[in-house]
Amino acid sequence: MTDLTLWRHARLATLSGHAPWGLIEDGALLAKGDQLVWVGADADLPADLQSQITNTNDLGGALVTPGLVDCHTHLVYGGQRAAEFEMRLQGASYEDIARAGGGIRSTVTATRAASEDTLFATARKRALTLMAEGVTTLEIKSGYGLTQRDEARCLAVARRLGTELPLTVRTTYLGAHAVPLEFQGRPDDYIDAVCSWMPGLHVRGLIDAVDAFCETIGFSPAQTRCVFDAAKALGLPVKLHAEQLSDQGGAALAAEYGALSCDHLEYLSDSGAQAMRAAGTVAVLLPGAYYFLRETRLPPITALRDNGVPIALASDHNPGSSPGLSLLLMINMACTLFRMTPEEAVRGVTVNGARALGLTDRGTLAAGQRADFCVWDLEHPNELAYWFGHNPCRRVVAAGKERAS
Ligand code: NIG
Ligand code: FE
Repeated sequence: MTDLTLWRHARLATLSGHAPWGLIEDGALLAKGDQLVWVGADADLPADLQSQITNTNDLGGALVTPGLVDCHTHLVYGGQRAAEFEMRLQGASYEDIARAGGGIRSTVTATRAASEDTLFATARKRALTLMAEGVTTLEIKSGYGLTQRDEARCLAVARRLGTELPLTVRTTYLGAHAVPLEFQGRPDDYIDAVCSWMPGLHVRGLIDAVDAFCETIGFSPAQTRCVFDAAKALGLPVKLHAEQLSDQGGAALAAEYGALSCDHLEYLSDSGAQAMRAAGTVAVLLPGAYYFLRETRLPPITALRDNGVPIALASDHNPGSSPGLSLLLMINMACTLFRMTPEEAVRGVTVNGARALGLTDRGTLAAGQRADFCVWDLEHPNELAYWFGHNPCRRVVAAGKERAS
């Protein structure tokens, strides 16, 4: 018989229903296997369920939230780019460095040179850091291999993280991240190659979604369309790095393909936001990249709110534009830099983060959802946005199992 585990005497921020934070005082969660089967006020727990409980955990009034979802990362790569950071501090721009062959391309060189075991070991350490702050679902993009073999290696490393760690990993194929040196001056040929590798990677079970970098220093809308057509032919959902440094109309294009999400979006137009709303596309905002590139153009939070576009937040962990490994810091920055409310920000790393990955089985605390949740050394969920630079996460349950701490 599957164990029925009760977690009681908690302040639950369920993020479900219409009450602020979906707050339940003196709440309880009942988990059977990897699922929540009952969530409510402790006093309301039905007697028939009570009699079947096999384990009980008293949380002593601690705050509980859904497990955190980091829905946009580039976690698998070789090397680092601290020297480029110094160059930028002295006045070089991210675009200048990319055009001069640095940027993404320098990480591609280091990634190709690294063994699969090294890629795994370094990515595993990064994943463990994110997990220590309560991340239970993690998206990982390829995009630093840029050959069929190297993209496959990076995606396989990402998959392996998901099997070896108590964590859900969703993989995204981002072959269209940059034009590699061997295709210099031939971006259309490179896009053809990216599309031709896709079926093989898909057959190996390495792709959950397909992404592209639509930007002046990335790929044009027409090239992005080719990648999306290839994804569509395989039945794969798409996402897009859109409107990060300029307005390319990428969000509207992605919305045409029913994209799960458009990410970055500092230069999103009002019509882009409307197209996203109509398509049910999630806006993934990345305050780490905004901060680290010292951008000044804010994503249009008001337009997203007014259009009812769901907003997610992610770490965008990568060695060039966002080398941080703290999703909690992203919550804080989304409030301080983007003026999101604490509740919007926390929804951004739970329910809306899940939605940006096409996952509806997580992100809230409710019966039928996966038993992914975090116990915090905090009194109120607004403190998740308030404290920064330390980790108040005390216990994490992923798929019904408490992680060893
Ligand atoms: O999401 N914008 C493109 N991709 C990454 C940065 C990649 C890099 O600089 O290595 C991003 O910010
Ligand atoms: Fe990114």
